[in-house]
Amino acid sequence: MCGIVGYVGRKSATPVLIEGLKRLEYRGYDSAGVAIIRDGQLHLCKSAGRIAGLEDRLEDHPELAAGMVGIAHTRWATHGAPTEENAHPHTDCTGRIAVVHNGIIENYAALKQVLEDKGHTFRSDTDSEVLAHLVSEFYRDDDGGDLPRAVQQALSEVAGTYGLAVVCADEPGMIVAARKGSPLIVGVGADEYIVASDASAIVEHTVNVIYLNDNEMVVIDEAGLRTLTIDNVPVSKQVQQIEWSLEQIALGEFEHFMLKEIFEQPEALRNSCRGRLNMREGRIQLGGIEHLSRELVKTRRIILTACGTAWHAGLIGEYLFEDLARIPAEVEYASEFRYRNPIIEDQTVVIAISQSGETADTLAALREAEHKGAMTLGVVNVVGSTIARETDAGVYLHAGPEIGVASTKAFTSQLTVLTLISLYLGRRRFMSETTLKQYMEELQAIPDKIETVLAQSDAIKQAVGACVDHDNWLFLGRGYNYPVALEGALKLKEISYIHAEGLPAAEMKHGPIALIAEGMPVVFVAPRCETYDKIIGNIEEVRARGGTVIAVATEGDDRIAQYAEHVFYIPDCPPALQPLLTVVPLQLLAYHAAVARGCNVDKPRNLAKSVTVE
Ligand code: M6R
Repeated sequence: MCGIVGYVGRKSATPVLIEGLKRLEYRGYDSAGVAIIRDGQLHLCKSAGRIAGLEDRLEDHPELAAGMVGIAHTRWATHGAPTEENAHPHTDCTGRIAVVHNGIIENYAALKQVLEDKGHTFRSDTDSEVLAHLVSEFYRDDDGGDLPRAVQQALSEVAGTYGLAVVCADEPGMIVAARKGSPLIVGVGADEYIVASDASAIVEHTVNVIYLNDNEMVVIDEAGLRTLTIDNVPVSKQVQQIEWSLEQIALGEFEHFMLKEIFEQPEALRNSCRGRLNMREGRIQLGGIEHLSRELVKTRRIILTACGTAWHAGLIGEYLFEDLARIPAEVEYASEFRYRNPIIEDQTVVIAISQSGETADTLAALREAEHKGAMTLGVVNVVGSTIARETDAGVYLHAGPEIGVASTKAFTSQLTVLTLISLYLGRRRFMSETTLKQYMEELQAIPDKIETVLAQSDAIKQAVGACVDHDNWLFLGRGYNYPVALEGALKLKEISYIHAEGLPAAEMKHGPIALIAEGMPVVFVAPRCETYDKIIGNIEEVRARGGTVIAVATEGDDRIAQYAEHVFYIPDCPPALQPLLTVVPLQLLAYHAAVARGCNVDKPRNLAKSVTVE
């Protein structure tokens, strides 16, 4: 949510910053801006809309073409419309201090009032602008100036969350950056440093990074880099390595990241399982939780907490833990859990699921669980992210970077990891070695089975073409496939703006059936399972009311074709693993619908990849 890049080095900063912004554009894309320090002056260029617009604007600003220190930002609006005035960087009244900020300054209205009373003039409607004026208020050039100290003093006045970077024309070689509740990473290259809100803006320059924790800051200047707390206590930080490469964040032959990531799922799932399925010994190996295995086996209750697509993965996790490990499990929206005063009894394990590892609500839910004494596990994709670092233990997805705002491969990798944890605990509690081995073999076969589903992409595109003008869709499923129906509906609405609702199929009769009218598309996730006949009953009810039925069924199921206009097939597999296959046609359906409607698939309106504000 919003992207920050900062550069200190020997190259011209603007091209580095613009390239970084492009890589971060998936985090927010309603306006952008850059500030460069050159010859002791601060130069600024901002634009509403995409980075491409900012690049065009820069052609008229040659003064930003040189200068080796700068900061830049791509915005996802929270306070104030997506206009040029509200774009970052924001400057103080003197035009010598510039700030880029992610997060929310909760007490900005009060601070603004105080600053206005002192004579500061504000130019934007944002909360972020107060930071520029506040730093300016504490920056005293009469005693030589001290930007780090001014930033510290400003932050001591602030309530809320921030990842921020500050430059000042009077300290032309320096960037000060700080973090509380919004991620910030520092790339440590040869003679250069890149500050960014995520690693994709850094990986082109270096794989060596420092992850800042909350309440920490970094001061970068000619002398190098210093890390300290925002209370001015020096902290020593370890340089770590980013695991993935630039290639992984390039589009390659694909038109969109979402399509690329849908097609990457076989490989992503192989990576999620790599080194974890010991077929020879009939064992699941999960190094990240092994040290807690004794406690975990005694777990009495599991709470899965997450948001959005990750929450849907949690819903399936609920079924998996009860079915395969026989541990009572429940799933909670992180945003509700954190404010609910939840009861955490002994031997409760809270699992936070998150692709980014930075989602504000999931992080807050995790902290609430920790505060109440739960053991916490992370099921996270981004290595070194805050959730990964703050949980007691965890299992990484290893799905590779996910750029498309609509989550796809992270979802199936989350399911894979939740399956692995369920089997790991199940085997330690009651599951026979034979049963475990059967599941392991079935899990190992899933990537190839996904390939056969992906091969139906063109057929799905054609089927969607006939329905894409309908503005209301229903998605129905049961058991393990009920959360898949929810996920199918979410995918469709977030990228095609078609209104879609997902439900457990049996709930249809309790109200939503009233919606069904001639031609309304109703998607049934109906692979072979114990409730198959009941789903056929629901399909008949929809047909009787003129709905258009689209079904996801098991290969060889000829019966369903009699009722459905379009059927997409998945290879047979145990019910617990079906979501790994049944969700794939729904991802493709959403993708093709969005393309057919001319929507920007990778940058859907109003959305951002990583929701780091409440
Ligand atoms: O990074 P996280 O997995 O924590 O993100 C959670 C949700 O914001 C995310 O899944 C969101 O719902 C996606 N846009 C869904 O495609």
